[in-house]
Amino acid sequence: MVKVSVTDLSGETRDIDAETGLSLMENIRNNDFDDLAAICGGCCSCCTCHVYVDADWAGKMPEMEDDEQYLLEDSPHFKEGSSRLSCQLEVDDSFDGLKVTIAPES
Ligand code: FES
Repeated sequence: MVKVSVTDLSGETRDIDAETGLSLMENIRNNDFDDLAAICGGCCSCCTCHVYVDADWAGKMPEMEDDEQYLLEDSPHFKEGSSRLSCQLEVDDSFDGLKVTIAPES
């Protein structure tokens, strides 16, 4: 388990105990954040698991695959350097202390 801080669309922040080996999306959903729809279930085809990674963490995240990048760049809420699809981020010990904010849905 690692600590991840999640801010929802209303601006409320809650720390969750995130399970390693699961995606960040699954961890956020498992902790009852209804703002993260994740409609495709993690298939990298919907962009409804979009989060903004805190600026201090952006450079520490795993590289993006092309399909993640294309989906994000199509979003009107895309922010260069901080947008990620949370279903494409598998939580490991290096995520301890991560801060993310759920992005508005497109
Ligand atoms: S859940 Fe659909 S792209 Fe992540």
